[in-house]
Amino acid sequence: MMSNHFDQLAQTWDQDQMKVERSKATAEQCRNVTLHENKNLLDVGGGTGLLSVHLRDCFESITIADMSKEMLRVAQEKIDRAKITNIKTFAVKEDISEVPDTYSAMITLMTLHHIADLEGFISSAAKILDDYGTLMIADIYQDDGSFHDHVADFDGHDGFEVGALSKILENANFEVSSVNPYFEITKETQTGEMRSYPLFFLVARKR
Ligand SMILES: C[S@@+](CC[C@H](N)C(=O)[O-])C[C@H]1O[C@@H](n2cnc3c(N)ncnc32)[C@H](O)[C@@H]1O
Repeated sequence: MMSNHFDQLAQTWDQDQMKVERSKATAEQCRNVTLHENKNLLDVGGGTGLLSVHLRDCFESITIADMSKEMLRVAQEKIDRAKITNIKTFAVKEDISEVPDTYSAMITLMTLHHIADLEGFISSAAKILDDYGTLMIADIYQDDGSFHDHVADFDGHDGFEVGALSKILENANFEVSSVNPYFEITKETQTGEMRSYPLFFLVARKR
């Protein structure tokens, strides 16, 4: 369902200035994190590559893993056009356990709430990360369901209660070192009301 949803949005994704600003703000957060190693980054649900492109100088290599072929096609066009040699794309079929290699860091921007099986994702992340690797999660704080009320068959999470999310991470052998609000999305709900949705940036280290 979701890959098809994003396939349809791919072509015009980068035209939304909010998404461009959001990726810049997220890249800024990522740059401020002290990593054990800056070898390779996995951008889960990296879509058209807005975030990865900003981070290309921070890592030896970056892999954008996504379920939407169209989002990845836009990302690949961008990589080719700019002659970027250290970013590649990977098409996910079912879940991130399929990605090749291990990574020194993983980042996910506005994707975790689309992944129904949170525990499964976090357990795969722990396997994919190198020892002392870092998982960075940028997503919305728990909302009342209005953020996705325009998506008829949305089956993900209405944002996250960061205390509960941190507990799941800690149970999977991560240590949560920081969580802070860093960006706000303002948009009109289905009932015509303007609403603000704050985003958090969470940093967790594999123990
Ligand atoms: C809201 S978009 C965010 C895209 C990008 N991170 C950005 O901020 O511009 C969510 C992305 O996650 C992808 N996605 C959803 N579930 C996924 C999964 N289980 N594994 C990998 N990608 C997934 C979608 O195809 C989509 O490109």
